[in-house]
Amino acid sequence: MTPFPKNFFWGCSTSAHQIEGHVTNDWSQWEQSERRAEELKKKGKNPSDFIAGSACDSWEHAETDLACLNQLGVNAYRFSIEWSRVEPRRGEFNEEVIERYRASIMTLRQNGIEPFVTLWHFTVPLWVRDQGGWESAQTIEDFAAFTKRIVEALGEDVRFWITVNEPIVYAVQSYLIGVWPPQQKSFFKTIRVAHNLMRAHKRAYEVIKARNPELQIGLSNHSIHFSAKQPLLFNQLIARVGTYFWNEWFLNRARNHQDFIGINYYFHKSVDFQFGKKDQIVSDLNWELYPEGLGRVLLSLKRFHKPVYITEHGLADKDDRHRAWYLKESLAAVARAIEKGIDVRGYFHWSLIDNFEWADGFFPRFGFFAVDYQTCKRTARPSVEVYREIIKRNGL
Ligand code: FCB
Repeated sequence: MTPFPKNFFWGCSTSAHQIEGHVTNDWSQWEQSERRAEELKKKGKNPSDFIAGSACDSWEHAETDLACLNQLGVNAYRFSIEWSRVEPRRGEFNEEVIERYRASIMTLRQNGIEPFVTLWHFTVPLWVRDQGGWESAQTIEDFAAFTKRIVEALGEDVRFWITVNEPIVYAVQSYLIGVWPPQQKSFFKTIRVAHNLMRAHKRAYEVIKARNPELQIGLSNHSIHFSAKQPLLFNQLIARVGTYFWNEWFLNRARNHQDFIGINYYFHKSVDFQFGKKDQIVSDLNWELYPEGLGRVLLSLKRFHKPVYITEHGLADKDDRHRAWYLKESLAAVARAIEKGIDVRGYFHWSLIDNFEWADGFFPRFGFFAVDYQTCKRTARPSVEVYREIIKRNGL
């Protein structure tokens, strides 16, 4: 058996907009907009499959989700707090909502599950959207105020905080390629948004530390394993440039403002002249499943000398054909990275349950548990047993 370190966190990850249901924010409005419906119809798709709506209705089914966590036997759970629920108008905090989050955190603790709380996972309240979202420097101040309120309320019960999720992915999808709201295509806006998210992360870090310096703070950085297909200098150079901008830019700048590094790993890009894709095992979204890439990404973090948490890793796999294999192989790569001196302290599988996958809607099935979106019933996929066994043994 390959043992994992003592006190390793075994968890699952979700985010509010993708599971809670019935939220009103920039995404919910965009999903229901005419423009979005037209674009989807043109592609022959049914717009209603792309509206989060009641999603998994996790807001009303917290005990069901807890039962799923307990069935897996995890000792950690990463989820996000929905800013638009907590602060529907600037400065007006909904105490009932905060209390509800507090109560669910207490329940997790009573079940031996360590909460990892994300403060921003892609969505903003409508009033933030209306002031220009992350293009506006005002949003940095507002996010700091939101963070302060949340940490005052939950800071006793939550030790691990993730300020922002995948800032570069968001900046590119929303402001460069324009496939996520607010569908902009501007290089300058992309840079501004990435920069503002960086400032927001640093401000949030300071706000949380001022409340209690013991709290552990990081961010979730989307990390791609770029490799050069042939040992050609040109390909190696492209792979290096990709690594620098995609994986390292944000982490380098946040260096003095993070206690741990959070990694979300989904992609391997093998650089050749066509970014070739041959003979690969792929997920339902056609994303290449390359377990070794996770290990390589972890090894590249050595120079930071910080604890690392894999805050997301998983695959869309409705029929559960590859999940167990991918999980085991990826964890074997994690174990090798640990042996080589990377201080990995936790692994969070994306995701606990099937959920609303942003612009891809409800089609991708990322969950250990399948969700019937009509009845909200959760059903364990076979790989639940595999993860459960790994957790029980604390090793492979
Ligand atoms: C990540 C996102 C997460 C989920 C997974 C599949 O990029 O952080 O919300 O959509 O991809």
